[in-house]
Amino acid sequence: MICLTEIKLIDDDGLRLDGRKPDELRPIKIEAGVLDNADGSAYVEWGNNKIIAAVYGPREVQPKYLQDTAKAIVQVSYNMAAFAGDDRIRPGPNRRATEISKITAEALERVILTGQYPRSSIDVYIEVLEADAGTRCAGLTAASVAVADAGIPMIDLVPSVAAGKADGQLVLDVGKLEDNKGQADLPLAYVPRTGEIVLLQMDGHFTRKELEMAMKMAIDACKEIHVIQQDALKRKYTPQSSVNTNEQEAEQ
Ligand code: CDP
Repeated sequence: MICLTEIKLIDDDGLRLDGRKPDELRPIKIEAGVLDNADGSAYVEWGNNKIIAAVYGPREVQPKYLQDTAKAIVQVSYNMAAFAGDDRIRPGPNRRATEISKITAEALERVILTGQYPRSSIDVYIEVLEADAGTRCAGLTAASVAVADAGIPMIDLVPSVAAGKADGQLVLDVGKLEDNKGQADLPLAYVPRTGEIVLLQMDGHFTRKELEMAMKMAIDACKEIHVIQQDALKRKYTPQSSVNTNEQEAEQ
């Protein structure tokens, strides 16, 4: 049996358990428009996380009493599949899913131009197929691409990532064991166009200086993730012929 207290999260060369440097992201792949039946969708593979986001709307609000005459409401449902973790996850709503759904909706509301769609609802479904820490950040990252894919006007995409502390050292994009055994976890979402932080949570302890550095680390990484999000949309919406032409030009 592995004894978690004996595991070193950072080795003598300063590398993490999966070989990453402290400020290195896991590999991220995003594909936009993967579902025919949703108005917008996106699939993200982020390290070992596999997450799909689907968007329906703007459409009539259900239940009707939630209707807002001034703007659209954003409703998010985050769900982890029963087979997403090492142990079977009990299906159905729970406190964690309710919390993640709420903070994700609040982050998306900051960028979606909800005032353009009074009395309607924008419904976002985030399904975690495989989980390996950081699913709220990866889910929000995918969801904002799915909203854009649905053609819903927004200020910007919302890249998101967690910074943390492992073996007393600041680390970016916290992995599963770092999440379980590290000293702190700071999920953050950032809107590059406005510089606004639309999600900030903290679990554990940072000094004030560490907190500032962790936030900067996460914001810098969000700018990288933003490029991956934009590329996913460009791949879907750039006509194939111009993609081919660009590739041919690059080859010459
Ligand atoms: O996923 P995220 O880091 O945003 O949220 P968390 O609550 O800090 O969970 C960290 C990780 O623990 C998840 O990504 C899953 O890998 C795992 N987890 C799980 O296996 N079963 C749960 N019921 C909750 C979390």
